[in-house]
Amino acid sequence: MSISFRSLTVVCLTTLLAGLSSRLLAADVAIPRLVGAAGCTAASCHGGNSLIGGEATAWLSRDVVHRRAFDVLFSETSVRMALQLGLKSAHTEARCLACHSTVGMHPDGAKGERFAVEFGVGCESCHGAAGDWVARHTERTWRSLSVSQKADLGFHDLRPVNARAEKCAECHVGSPRATVDHDLIAAGHPRLAFELSAYHALLPKHWDAAAELQRDPAQELRLWAIGHAVSAKALSEIAAARAESALKSGTKHVTSDLAEFDCHACHHDLAEPTRGRPTLRDSLGSPRWGSWSVPPARVVARESHQLFGQDGAAAESSLGQLAKLMQQSRLGTAPAVQLSLAARQSSADLANWSRSLEYSTTEPERMNQLLDRLVATESEWLPTWDGQVQRYLGIVATSRSLRVTTGREPFSFASDANVLSNFRSQLAYPIGYATPRSFDSSAVNPIIQELRQSLTR
Ligand code: HEC
Ligand code: HEC
Ligand code: HEC
Ligand code: HEC
Repeated sequence: MSISFRSLTVVCLTTLLAGLSSRLLAADVAIPRLVGAAGCTAASCHGGNSLIGGEATAWLSRDVVHRRAFDVLFSETSVRMALQLGLKSAHTEARCLACHSTVGMHPDGAKGERFAVEFGVGCESCHGAAGDWVARHTERTWRSLSVSQKADLGFHDLRPVNARAEKCAECHVGSPRATVDHDLIAAGHPRLAFELSAYHALLPKHWDAAAELQRDPAQELRLWAIGHAVSAKALSEIAAARAESALKSGTKHVTSDLAEFDCHACHHDLAEPTRGRPTLRDSLGSPRWGSWSVPPARVVARESHQLFGQDGAAAESSLGQLAKLMQQSRLGTAPAVQLSLAARQSSADLANWSRSLEYSTTEPERMNQLLDRLVATESEWLPTWDGQVQRYLGIVATSRSLRVTTGREPFSFASDANVLSNFRSQLAYPIGYATPRSFDSSAVNPIIQELRQSLTR
């Protein structure tokens, strides 16, 4: 009797296990297969020679940084980093592959025969794992599918600026899945300082960018505004995930990573005179959290009503609340429960605000007013390197949008070596350095005054 009972249990257990593993398998299948960029490059697909149909050709020949993103894991810097960090090698390290190859999206997911990690940041890194849509998207019926039907198949529609910004931010700001922390930076990784309108302008396009600009002449400003909202949202999500994992492990307080604070508040050259060093009462000995992304996101949120007719007040205020708590996290005294709530709130408010900017309109008069404030001597931009670079990028984005919408130059400069490029060279790293060693904030105000005087309006 007892034997049959036992065998019954065994049977039950095996069916249970079988059920479990088939469910696990099902979960595996739910991650679409990665096809690999080689699956897109056929001449009859995206490997042609014209703008439309030649996307892969354009990507292979011009988007060199993304195509080579895996290759840089063999560079001298990467080899040194791996040594420093005690890794076997950079090109096999999941942490590096997370952002330097398409494989990082689904390290354990299924891969097609033509998938190769060597393709770096390939098509599917941005457009979504193609296993479930690669065949469908060549069919006539593809065009009749809705955006959400396509999304269900794993296809990312990158036409909305918000979707585009989210994609870039995953690697260029970081996510709970992968960040560039202070250890990586100290070992040699460049600091991530992402600003969407600038990076978007630098990215060689494999689509009809001119047509896009025609449809949305304010695209540059939209990229600028949404980019700031989405970058601050990415930081909020990293903060939330950190607080929640602290809670899970029974820790009541959160310590965050140094890379999220103002580098220059700690790393000033002690041998240099204090002239030009920002004297911000509240940042002395207490570097600001999110010094690169948070202050500009708050400025843009305050400009949002005037510029796009959209209220950014809720996002501005909840991001401010989060920043206050995160300020305590450097010393490990930020309460995890409050921090997790504040970070989720900030993320949700930023997302709402950011989405409201997608289709709202603006006009030259409003852009001119923004430009006026960007070149005001009394401004909200911090006198730090981070603050002034962000201000400079804001001036560039606004000028570009004004040029597209009005066909006029917003500044009149007497010479080719104009004031704006002078501003830029003040901010540039000296040759041989990866830091703005010679930045002197007292040089900025005269430049701003000159810019004001050069406004054409
Ligand atoms: C969160 C995403 C992320 C992670 C994780 C990451 N990187 Fe990067 N890495 C980037 C981005 C984005 C850039 C480009 C930065 C820029 O120019 O703005 C970059 C740049 C680099 C560069 C400079 C490349 C050049 O052309 O000079 C090296 C080297 C590098 N990464 C190596 C590594 C190594 C090694 C690891 C793992 C230990 C790693 N990265 C992890 C995102 C990441
Ligand atoms: C760094 C991110 C990124 C990578 C990598 C990338 N794309 Fe794109 N791609 C975009 C963005 C952004 C757009 C513009 C939005 C849109 O039209 O969907 C775009 C547009 C397209 C379009 C639409 C063109 C149009 O006019 O409708 C095609 C087709 C395309 N990409 C194919 C590819 C292929 C094939 C690869 C790989 C060989 C690739 N992309 C790699 C970001 C990327
Ligand atoms: C899967 C991760 C990933 C995604 C998604 C991604 N990038 Fe990158 N990007 C990288 C890495 C890694 C590098 C550095 C590679 C190198 O140096 O070869 C890089 C480099 C760049 C550079 C060159 C930066 C420099 O210092 O010259 C630009 C510009 C850029 N990316 C823009 C974008 C934009 C715009 C998007 C969104 C449409 C985007 N990237 C999406 C990972 C990514
Ligand atoms: C709160 C102070 C603080 C902040 C903020 C900070 N660091 Fe550091 N950093 C340090 C200290 C202390 C060290 C030396 C110990 C170590 O290697 O971790 C260091 C080491 C480094 C090193 C290695 C230097 C060497 O000679 O080996 C680099 C590079 C670096 N930091 C860059 C950065 C960057 C870039 C940022 C901003 C994204 C930043 N740090 C933010 C305190 C800080």
